[in-house]
Amino acid sequence: MPEAPEKNLALDIVRITEAAALSSARWLGRGDKEAGDGAAVDAMRVSFSTLHVDGVVVIGEGEKDHAPMLYNGEKVGMGDGPQLDVAVDPVEGTSLLAYGRPNAISVVGVAPRGSMFNPGPSFYMQKLVVSREARDVVDLDAPVDVNLSRVAAALGKQIKDLVVFVLDKPRHQNLIAEIRKVGARIQLHSDGDVAGALMAVDPRSEVDIMMGTGGTPEGVLAACAIKGMGGQLLARLDPQSYVEKDAIVDAGIDMRAVLTVNDLVKSDDCFFAATGISGGDFLRGVRYSSRHAVTHSLVLRGKTGTLRYVESYHNMDRLAKISAVNY
Ligand code: FBP
Repeated sequence: MPEAPEKNLALDIVRITEAAALSSARWLGRGDKEAGDGAAVDAMRVSFSTLHVDGVVVIGEGEKDHAPMLYNGEKVGMGDGPQLDVAVDPVEGTSLLAYGRPNAISVVGVAPRGSMFNPGPSFYMQKLVVSREARDVVDLDAPVDVNLSRVAAALGKQIKDLVVFVLDKPRHQNLIAEIRKVGARIQLHSDGDVAGALMAVDPRSEVDIMMGTGGTPEGVLAACAIKGMGGQLLARLDPQSYVEKDAIVDAGIDMRAVLTVNDLVKSDDCFFAATGISGGDFLRGVRYSSRHAVTHSLVLRGKTGTLRYVESYHNMDRLAKISAVNY
């Protein structure tokens, strides 16, 4: 049955990521992680309060590093619209922002209530992300060389042409050595694996695959985007301490299960928006001119796969007069 077009919530939530990016961009390179994150959290909270949705934060941030947070279980929106699970990361890459490095972004994902994977006490998961062409050939349990040769074949490339996005962490020493051994190229980033996942599924980016362990909340957020862009994210919880491992066991969560994009976000009726803060390979950072602040965002709808890039010109003088957010 053909369906009439419905409201595209991504066009609403992009105003939230824009507000968070505008607020936090003032902290670019100033060395203060908490201040940049705090500004984005405040802007996001105020912006959410204008939305006609009944949202509950399922993926918030803060517990891992005690950062300012939109906490899990917090209600957002005016409470009179669709019931939603909400995933937020006001600043994904707080260190990237604080130290003026590329790819700090502000992200929000929403999906119908009950459809997002709840990480519980899990902070870290192993992830493997590829684009649409390679989504059926990867296996989280296959050796690195096997996955890379399958992805290369699916993309019609040689292994030496591939670019693998890896977070530059001591835990990835062996992974990096294995990738180097088979001759693929590597982009090492200190932070920001939501951006890494987005680049891996975006055919215009030079990144072909993302491998390694990063945040569990970031995995769910990336899954919201991949539902819209196509591609695959395979994941498995990968606790980095005994405390984390014991908490996952106590919560009765299966640590061995391989999770796909559809396990992380069960409904296709999801929406995702991201706005660049510090600028980078796929989203430009916040730029200021004499009158405007310019933001660059990505807006996605899971059901249709429609992807929009939104460039917005914010008149800062007028905003200063009317906005509850301090830009
Ligand atoms: P924050 O924005 O919370 O600082 O997270 C940045 C990030 O690099 C994520 O992109 C990634 O998933 C996670 O941290 C990795 O965690 P860790 O730095 O502890 O290895």
